[in-house]
Amino acid sequence: MNADKRGLTGKFYVTTPIYYVNDVPHLGHAYTTVAADVLARYHRAGGDDVFFLTGTDEHGQKAEQAAKKAGRDVHEYVAEEAEEFRALWKTLNVSNDDFIRTTEERHKKVVRAAMRTLFDKGEIYEGSYEGWYCVPDERFWTEKDLKDGNCPECGRKVEHIMEKNYFFRMGNYRDRLIEKIMKGELEIHPASRMNEVLGFLRKELGDLCISRPKSRLAWGIELPFDGEYVTYVWFDALVNYISALGYPDGDKYKKFWPADVHLIGKDILTTHCVYWTTMLMALDLPLPKQIYAHGWWTVEGQKMSKSLGNTVSPEKAVEAVGVDQFRYFLMREVPFGLDGDFNANALINRINVDLANNLGNLVSRVLTMVEKYNDSLVPQPRAYSVVEKFSKYWGVDWGKPRQGMEGLDPNLSFKETIDYFNEHMKKFRFHLSLEKIINLCDTLNEVIQVNKPWDLAKDPSKKEELDKVLYVGVETIRLIGKSISPFMPESAEKLKRMLGLSDWGDWNWGGLKLGTKIIAGETLFPRIDEKKAEEIKAMLAPKEPAQKAEGQAQITYEDFMKADLRTGVVVSAEPVEKSKKLLKLQVDLGSETRQIVAGIAEHYKPEDLAGKTVVVVANLKPAKLMGVESRGMLLAANDEGKLVLAGTWEPVKGGLKVK
Ligand code: ME8
Repeated sequence: MNADKRGLTGKFYVTTPIYYVNDVPHLGHAYTTVAADVLARYHRAGGDDVFFLTGTDEHGQKAEQAAKKAGRDVHEYVAEEAEEFRALWKTLNVSNDDFIRTTEERHKKVVRAAMRTLFDKGEIYEGSYEGWYCVPDERFWTEKDLKDGNCPECGRKVEHIMEKNYFFRMGNYRDRLIEKIMKGELEIHPASRMNEVLGFLRKELGDLCISRPKSRLAWGIELPFDGEYVTYVWFDALVNYISALGYPDGDKYKKFWPADVHLIGKDILTTHCVYWTTMLMALDLPLPKQIYAHGWWTVEGQKMSKSLGNTVSPEKAVEAVGVDQFRYFLMREVPFGLDGDFNANALINRINVDLANNLGNLVSRVLTMVEKYNDSLVPQPRAYSVVEKFSKYWGVDWGKPRQGMEGLDPNLSFKETIDYFNEHMKKFRFHLSLEKIINLCDTLNEVIQVNKPWDLAKDPSKKEELDKVLYVGVETIRLIGKSISPFMPESAEKLKRMLGLSDWGDWNWGGLKLGTKIIAGETLFPRIDEKKAEEIKAMLAPKEPAQKAEGQAQITYEDFMKADLRTGVVVSAEPVEKSKKLLKLQVDLGSETRQIVAGIAEHYKPEDLAGKTVVVVANLKPAKLMGVESRGMLLAANDEGKLVLAGTWEPVKGGLKVK
């Protein structure tokens, strides 16, 4: 691995995928974009000239079909959807330098020029295509690629097609690409993904169909050498990484290309590591330095995706817990590169344990002490250096760590901590960098606990010792603030103001100057109490998958008829004792009145239910809920955590069969 490529080398160009506009953005899109933002902010703070690009992928079948389905003009539709992404990046405090849309002329112009160059060089030729096509993925497959007759990537149905098309001589570049990867000229991370790409390249690499006949798909960039065809959406989209820079002669292109890193999800590894790189080679352009493919956020083990509809809304997450808290969770919870299952409990725990109880409390503890014991002024720094070990500040009788503090390392030095943080930032191991900073908070808490500044303050002869502890406290907080600033920019700004700083300064010990005025008293991260936690969980419940992947088991009419669904009229309803969620209802089913317990107390008032027509599963086995018998179940729709009872359009009597 070439350390220089990851160091702060003057310029840093980072990109995210440009997202499809066929639906609103979800947590998965937020993940890649926040990670890119963290890198961009980190490199800017380190003095690099940064260019951070994101945008939207607006051509192709998916966008066209989504517009059609919505009954909209496709231009208007994609423009509106692109705005959704732009707005989300604002909400998430994303500091992108540009936002490229593939329908913009500046992009189309470059795609046409690149296609023309490749055609004139003989890298693109006319041929005929017969094979299988996956419409949602817009990918061609050969018979042997198919898995059980379906698309090998997404498992959905494929269509058989035969047509004239244009092809890119991708196969010619296989050996050169392997060589570049092996030599580290193109780094693919994590290593498992590099092996995946090399495995893919071990097989024969065919040529790539890069056109679509307008008769089948008109929504795309017309080929400059055949007006009957548009460009394959991936060949169009990938070019965004250079079109946004003004390739071939824009100043930004000259300055920033090749990209320092393309951040992507593992779903689009081949398109980036094989299609894009071979295309660049054919154009005689340098390859990106690194491609980093992170893992997937899943929900109950299934990939969170637009097509499955099991998504978590980033806007709601921000509304529920705050923007910095959400960003912190995304970067801290799952090692970058691996998959992680989304869970609102984990989100709440992370915030309470790491941010509210640890970091937030520590800041308020230290600043309050400076306020109380030194008139809110930073004390004399003395001559402590970054390499000093924490053990120096433990006091004389450190001995063994106190019970419960065994994990702390009194021999850890500030410098080691900061070096570790930076080393992992450069390798995109965000979770390790953040973990180290939270450990530093633990250690600082312990330093305070052992040195007892509240006792030192009572004895004027101990002023020097008191100054020492207070300075270690505030200066460590400065370094903590500087470290967290790419992750939590808003809170870091607030903290900077509290420390009386206009900028964070460098990583060297001693940045806080004598006499700087501290402002204590602000809470950085409020704790989430139980009531709020319940609200958050309801808000963030992922949308139920509309269909659990295409291969979901289907049931017969007979299977369906096994459920005895009946209309019921609610006679009365009352809360179940000691339960926040349950209501006990008496429901008239015509021939009898049934007692049914339903988890709807947070959504309906008992007095509003009497007289309402509901739908009851009448042949469900009786069960006891909180000790109360329930003989049946009410049907309700779950609208992102809000339950809405199913009933009939007009009031009817109880006991009618529903089918
Ligand atoms: O593929 N977990 O766009 P797209 C983590 N337009 N990340 C996820 C995710 C999940 N569950 N779901 C999506 C496209 N992502 C093309 C890209 S680039 C030239 C063209 C993120 O809207 C992740 O970054 O399907 C993934 O690669 C990307 O969104 C796919 O976005």
